[in-house]
Amino acid sequence: MNIKEKLDTDNIPQHVAIIMDGNGRWAKEKGEMRLFGHATGVESVREALTAASEVKVKYLTLYAFSTENWKRPKEEVDGLMDLLVNTIANEAESLNKNNVKLNAIGKIEDLPDGCRNELLKAIEDTSKNTGTNLILALNYSAKMEIKDAIKKIASEYKEGSIELDEITDELVSDHLYTSGIPDPELMIRTSGEIRISNFLLWQLAYSELHFTPIFWPEFKKEDFYQAIYEYQNRERRFGLVGDQLKEQKNDE
Ligand code: FPP
Repeated sequence: MNIKEKLDTDNIPQHVAIIMDGNGRWAKEKGEMRLFGHATGVESVREALTAASEVKVKYLTLYAFSTENWKRPKEEVDGLMDLLVNTIANEAESLNKNNVKLNAIGKIEDLPDGCRNELLKAIEDTSKNTGTNLILALNYSAKMEIKDAIKKIASEYKEGSIELDEITDELVSDHLYTSGIPDPELMIRTSGEIRISNFLLWQLAYSELHFTPIFWPEFKKEDFYQAIYEYQNRERRFGLVGDQLKEQKNDE
């Protein structure tokens, strides 16, 4: 039986987030330039998106460019931006054909004009689609996202439109870039690094974390299914003890 058939279709995570890591090391191992790794990584984006759509994962968030990535050599940053523009432009039609709705989180307003315009156009062109939501984290930093939320909440408090007691988990979530999107049940990071790297710090509070040694350009649909399979075989406790969970299940 292949791994996809083993999945419990009643327990598919609604939201999977991925830190796509290892493009540079994969390319280096092959004696190629880092940008070749990123370009090959686009194939894996397709694999992950197709796999997510096939098993009806509703939201797929991909960490494509962090605010820290601007510190990389200019040639790599420019190459990555070109790759993003070209990929978004080339894939827009296929996103529509597959009913994928594109969205983005991060400081989109600070992206280079070409990249921002192409992105906003693709978001608009796919806005009516009802299948998988593909969310690109671009020029994204979770600490910045939380700071922005704090600023918004503080100014609402100052204006008198909210009371201190109204600052709940839900209110904070509603002020994040991901407002309206459920938190990821599963976060995958490739390339063997075991870190969160400033990605969705608030939203990952209770997520299952899946770390795989595979470099992103080698990540295939089966690897996505494998991560979901392992997620389905873990016990999610949300701070409770195992027996309490069993009681909860019996009550359902
Ligand atoms: C991390 O590998 C990867 C990135 C910073 C960029 C990922 C971007 C893509 C795969 C293109 C995505 C395109 C779309 C449309 C989403 P790394 O360079 O940090 O690898 P290393 O750790 O081996 O150096």
